[in-house]
Amino acid sequence: MAEQREFSRARLSSLANKANLHLLIHGKVYDVHTFVYDHPGGDLVLLGEGGKDATKAWEDVQHSEEAKQLMKDYLVGYCTEIPQASISEPSQITAIEKPRLITRYIL
Ligand code: HEM
Repeated sequence: MAEQREFSRARLSSLANKANLHLLIHGKVYDVHTFVYDHPGGDLVLLGEGGKDATKAWEDVQHSEEAKQLMKDYLVGYCTEIPQASISEPSQITAIEKPRLITRYIL
């Protein structure tokens, strides 16, 4: 996976246009500018959530497992203003990430 970058909410809010479209979902930041016109749910919904916390919008749709896998391709970092413990969700945790997350809870 590419290097993970940190994003503040202020930085994220500037990444809300077609050329630079980032979404915050479960504390993680996704750069979807190359995906926006291929999105089966349409470009408008993604553009509407650009630069924002799209967690609720994402969850409301109940995306498939395939979609959850696909979103990993667009992961570029995480938001520094979201508590570490709430970043990620079980369905997105990979085998490598799991032990690290468990350790985080124990500590
Ligand atoms: C990286 C982020 C995202 C990826 C990779 C993604 C991927 C997909 C995929 C593969 C589908 C086809 C149905 C499925 O497999 O579940 C889909 C449908 C859809 N998505 Fe997304 N999506 C993303 C973010 C979002 C967000 C943030 C919203 C809401 C603002 C959204 C709204 C929708 C809607 C409305 C549909 C159509 C559902 C239907 O027709 O039943 N998606 N998306």
